[in-house]
Amino acid sequence: MRLTNLLKLWYVKSMRALVSGGAGFIGSRLALELEKNGAEVHVIDSFLSLNFNNLSLFKGPVIQHDLLDDWTSSGKWDVIFHQAAITDPRHESDEEVYEKNVRGFEKLLKLALQSQAKLIYASTAGLYGNGAVPMKEAQEKEVLTAYGRSKLKMDEIAESHFNQLHLVGLRYFNVFGPHEAHKGRPASMIYHLWKQMVSGQRPRLFKWGEQSRDFIYVKDVVRANLCAIHAPSGIYNVGTGVASTFNTVVRILNEVLGTSLEPDYFDMPYESKTYQHCTLADTSYAETGLNFKTEWDLKSAIFDYVKWLEKTEGSHL
Ligand SMILES: NC(=O)c1ccc[n+]([C@@H]2O[C@H](COP(=O)([O-])OP(=O)(O)OC[C@H]3O[C@@H](n4cnc5c(N)ncnc54)[C@H](O)[C@@H]3O)[C@@H](O)[C@H]2O)c1
Repeated sequence: MRLTNLLKLWYVKSMRALVSGGAGFIGSRLALELEKNGAEVHVIDSFLSLNFNNLSLFKGPVIQHDLLDDWTSSGKWDVIFHQAAITDPRHESDEEVYEKNVRGFEKLLKLALQSQAKLIYASTAGLYGNGAVPMKEAQEKEVLTAYGRSKLKMDEIAESHFNQLHLVGLRYFNVFGPHEAHKGRPASMIYHLWKQMVSGQRPRLFKWGEQSRDFIYVKDVVRANLCAIHAPSGIYNVGTGVASTFNTVVRILNEVLGTSLEPDYFDMPYESKTYQHCTLADTSYAETGLNFKTEWDLKSAIFDYVKWLEKTEGSHL
């Protein structure tokens, strides 16, 4: 193993990390990975979905609080991973989404400045709306929701602090994988389509299933967070650089499940311009700056995920 990799491993082993949103889908995978690598990890989460299962294997302290509540942070942090957010782009209160997401970020930014900790936070590809593809970090943003607005504001705040601390924004594309079911409607299309197909239903798609997503496996997203510990301050896309259509996902799921279910197409219920028709990351900046490249392609990731789903949510047979 190269010396730099050994030093990176040693850094994680000796670090004290706070993971906000650590009971959620991505946060819980990240908290467990950090713990597995020897870090002292604390989680803060308000448990919005009342789901306590994601942390069943986590041994560290869990602070059950809203970030905006009065809670005390114990000791000094080396790295703060900020994953907490109201993540439903169609949440009923736009004001709440914006306020909570932006204020929560500001609170952790303040804590990072006090601690001189590194701050790594989750941004979103939702910011690119229906902009040009492949989506580049610096291109004009086209925000379609209050959720997107809140993340754009976070990115703007971050940009004005790059010279004051180690601060990295990760613009996740469409993440899927184990432990996302608690999200309900905002869980990935891959999860929803699997659920329909495993129970023998035809997969329901907006006409004609050619909308596409840069689907990224959660295991790669966790790795991107680890890369961010050693990357220069900045905002990086975290995607695969490949966009796959929903029809393709159905084809792969049919292959995994041994079924031949045809999509049941229906009219899109949203106004077309408020819906993101395609997401596709330009990954060049992440490859050079973050030193990150995905390891999972869509097909092998879906196979891995379905194996896990079958073990944990019952067999499709
Ligand atoms: N999953 C994706 O495809 C995706 C894509 C782009 C960006 N992101 C971002 O990644 C991060 C993690 O998303 P996820 O998919 O794991 O969602 P998630 O909903 O599973 O996790 C978010 C967690 O944050 C917690 N939380 C929310 N507001 C909080 C607050 N004010 N104080 C404390 N805890 C709070 C929730 O209880 C939840 O456990 C989010 O910031 C999200 O915006 C996710």
